[in-house]
Amino acid sequence: MNNNSIIILDFGSQYTQLIARRIRELNVFSEIYHFNISAEKIKQINPKGIILSGGPASVYEQNAPFPDRQIFKLNIPILGLCYGLQIITEIFNGRVKSSHAREYGFAELYILSKKSIFFGLKNKEKVWMSHGDKVIKMPSNFKVIGKTSNSDFAAIENTKKKIYGLQFHPEVIHTENGIKIFENFIKICGAERTWVPEAYIKNTVEEIKQIVKNDKVLCAVSGGVDSTVTAVLVNKAIGKNLICVFVNNGLLRLDEDKKVLKMFKKVGINVRYINAENLFLKKLKGVTDPEKKRKIIGNLFIKVFENYSKKIGRFKFLAQGTLYPDLIESVSVKGPSTTIKSHHNVGGLPKKMKLKLIEPLKSLFKDEVRKIGEKINIPYEVLWRQPFPGPGLAVRIIGEITKEKVNILRKADHIIIDEIKKAGYYDKIWQSFGVLLPIKTVGVMGDKRTYENVIAIRAVHSKDGMTADWVKLPCDLLNIISSRIINEVKGVNRVVYDISNKPPSTIEWE
Ligand code: XMP
Repeated sequence: MNNNSIIILDFGSQYTQLIARRIRELNVFSEIYHFNISAEKIKQINPKGIILSGGPASVYEQNAPFPDRQIFKLNIPILGLCYGLQIITEIFNGRVKSSHAREYGFAELYILSKKSIFFGLKNKEKVWMSHGDKVIKMPSNFKVIGKTSNSDFAAIENTKKKIYGLQFHPEVIHTENGIKIFENFIKICGAERTWVPEAYIKNTVEEIKQIVKNDKVLCAVSGGVDSTVTAVLVNKAIGKNLICVFVNNGLLRLDEDKKVLKMFKKVGINVRYINAENLFLKKLKGVTDPEKKRKIIGNLFIKVFENYSKKIGRFKFLAQGTLYPDLIESVSVKGPSTTIKSHHNVGGLPKKMKLKLIEPLKSLFKDEVRKIGEKINIPYEVLWRQPFPGPGLAVRIIGEITKEKVNILRKADHIIIDEIKKAGYYDKIWQSFGVLLPIKTVGVMGDKRTYENVIAIRAVHSKDGMTADWVKLPCDLLNIISSRIINEVKGVNRVVYDISNKPPSTIEWE
């Protein structure tokens, strides 16, 4: 447990993750908890500060979410943002009411006191608002420190109790000096700004050593940034007691297995290679349903690991590269979203094997993992590799998978990536790849009619995979890719470009 942290109680705001990121950017560790975490538990965590997030509810509604009221007696500084401000108002006998017009967008904040949370700011600041309710009566013993044309009580404080409330969102970049406000809060909390990659690496390696002692750890590696960073950290801690395994499921990209093994050799980790190509392709024969494909692949991974661990001897632990965003969903007060695709992840599956989990990245965001990766000398091309789904090319071959189709897609995909890299786009976009469609179309080659496959090119910009925009790649580049695929990949006579965004489409085609 990190007792130099600032914790966030989540009331369901779309910006909650952003608050954690801002605090971490200022080198203070920050974690998100469910809004009703008990004051007792918070005492154990012993954070330096608490932030109450925004949220969609109204404090005057029945069953509105409230934190344990005892948190206000812990003598820990508290900052309430938007709905968080309204909670503070309600608890300290003020009043919140629905405002006639929802205030959404930029507002000018007139600052009335620059002594504490607004230290160093200008008299007038541009801030980002997104709320339907507003404070109409001040809570007892609080002072107004900021107002906008729409809210007389847009910022309040009780400096004695160190409780602050802001109607706007300092976590959103549109609030120009939002980061300065967090900096001031960190100072008020007395939190030290020591959350840096070096300290994280040192502590994590030490922690893994203490947990694992002389037991053996199994780690499935894919060559992606998360599993690679995980493997290197665990390797630093326990050396040869870490066994890394790379499974070739027959659905990898061109020469991917060779490249991954070579990279691990370079970083000094011995990886065992399991060729399960035939096993996977045999089980996928005749399967066309995307969800079925995912399930089969997930189950086979478990089987392969089980067999391997039986053969090789006893493992007590399984290391996997779970990231913080993977866990946040379960913390949030928002209801579980419906399953659009049951994402298969090698990591999540072998739990059935009764191995204890080691998840050294579970409190990190992706960009933080990359910073750690840089410090432990993970090669650049791994750190910035575009995401590749666990089921691999299986979800990019629409319909039935055959070895022949895998080979066609591999070659086409290789050309797409090669040209996108040459044109300097690879690092600038979230994902780019090919999809093999389940139709044949007529073409003409020389004087002959052809009847062959279609490849779709997909390239998207995205921040986190949740939403995506198709990339406006230059026509010249698309032309080169198309000509090369049609000329170099036997069995393809047509190339199309996918121009759909997510939503309503998804990034992968299956
Ligand atoms: P979709 O297609 O849902 O993809 O828009 C969002 C992101 O998730 C990746 N993806 C997967 N990753 N197992 C994974 O590990 C999966 O089954 C899976 N399906 C999609 C996809 O590549 C994109 O980055």
